[in-house]
Amino acid sequence: MSATKKTVEIEAPTGKLGVLLVGLGAVSTTFIAGVEAIKRGLAEPVGSLTQMGTIRLGKRTENRVPLVRDFVNLASIDDLVFGAWDIFEEDAYDAALHAGVLERDLVNQLKGALQSIRPMKAVFDQHYVKRLNGTHVKRGADKLELANQLIADVENFRRANECDRVVMIWCASTEVFMQPGPEHDTIETLERAMRENSPAIAPSMIYAYAALKSGTPFANGAPNLTVDVPALTRLAIDQNLPVCGKDFKTGQTLMKTIIAPGLKARLIGLHGWFSTNILGNRDGEVLDDPESFKTKEESKLSVLEYILQPDVYPALYKDFSHIVRINYYPPRGDNKEGWDNIDIFGWLGYPMQIKIDFLCRDSILAAPIVLDLALFLDLAKRAGMRGIQEWLSFYFKSPMTAPGLYPEHDLFIQLMKLKNTLRHLQGEELITHLGLEYYD
Ligand SMILES: NC(=O)c1ccc[n+]([C@@H]2O[C@H](COP(=O)([O-])OP(=O)(O)OC[C@H]3O[C@@H](n4cnc5c(N)ncnc54)[C@H](O)[C@@H]3O)[C@@H](O)[C@H]2O)c1
Repeated sequence: MSATKKTVEIEAPTGKLGVLLVGLGAVSTTFIAGVEAIKRGLAEPVGSLTQMGTIRLGKRTENRVPLVRDFVNLASIDDLVFGAWDIFEEDAYDAALHAGVLERDLVNQLKGALQSIRPMKAVFDQHYVKRLNGTHVKRGADKLELANQLIADVENFRRANECDRVVMIWCASTEVFMQPGPEHDTIETLERAMRENSPAIAPSMIYAYAALKSGTPFANGAPNLTVDVPALTRLAIDQNLPVCGKDFKTGQTLMKTIIAPGLKARLIGLHGWFSTNILGNRDGEVLDDPESFKTKEESKLSVLEYILQPDVYPALYKDFSHIVRINYYPPRGDNKEGWDNIDIFGWLGYPMQIKIDFLCRDSILAAPIVLDLALFLDLAKRAGMRGIQEWLSFYFKSPMTAPGLYPEHDLFIQLMKLKNTLRHLQGEELITHLGLEYYD
């Protein structure tokens, strides 16, 4: 057996883990209802690496392949409790029915647990999400005061639910496109901008700031800038807290990051990739606004450039066209349909085409990501990992990275990075797949 010495001390996950969700919409309610159903033995946690995934340890001949959750000391899903903020007052039961992802029968079986989750008043400003207009919203003299109200919410939730630890995950609507500015440079400039009610401070940043100030790890499931600015990543380091984002990798982009690495591996060229979607849920309605769509588009477009590396392979990938469209089409609800037309070329430049028609369910793909992120962020905090958690790139369309570092989008490299991080934490040898030792 080839284990290295364990060097990382990880606190045990005692007591309850609070999961605070910003936004109680389709993704959040599908996640909460799913966990409650799994706790009751009504369903399996399909799609969750922390619950169903395994990890190979040591040599292939050792046959050591434990479940991830038996290998690292994760919180049990029985110890999870949920809270949320939303701009609408609906509890999680009504919100789940409204979202229409899960069958009414299943939601009714979980009615008591879901009705007990009533959203707290949100920090919201329609300037950042044009298509929504909610009434369940906090008032305050300035953005710093709103942050302090959120910090008080976190504390009250922690006390009321007797939580040992809390994590926060942004599952709220996509905000308008923003770029980092001088306001986001340092904690001082950020706090000044919050006091001055600067438009450079979006609601999602106020939540992220409040999370970090209250000792809470933060993940960003939408493409908003949010915690991906120097002031907040610095705050995370100073507070010894892990952060990660952005934009849950589900649906069409998940497929892209599965297929593109395969094409590149076999040096198959690309002329173009056209992607279009029809989507009818509230997320689709929000993304119908060009400013919110721009945020999403940036997140979706970057993937292929990074995977295919046109600068390294100009003969194969220079100047390919990449177009992404999302059309709001109410009849489909959460059951999105995504089409891809991929124009590729092979030996001697001969053209070929791949067509994909993915009839997916967005929130069904996103819910296990929320579960894994909650458990892994909690693990990271207990292991003393702070700042950007690049090993969680596996879950995101636009992974956050250290300044100057390009993100890794290839799903299989991301998975290797994630599993090697777990091996590292537990003092196990990292797996390189070299394998020469089997042929000595
Ligand atoms: N479902 C997926 O596969 C997927 C994948 C990647 C990213 N996302 C992102 O996750 C987010 C959630 O998706 P969804 O399908 O659940 O959307 P949704 O519209 O059903 O839910 C979002 C909820 O957030 C609330 N909200 C908006 N602004 C808020 C604020 N400032 N504070 C508190 N609540 C606020 C809305 O009222 C709504 O209830 C979206 O940004 C979406 O783009 C989803």
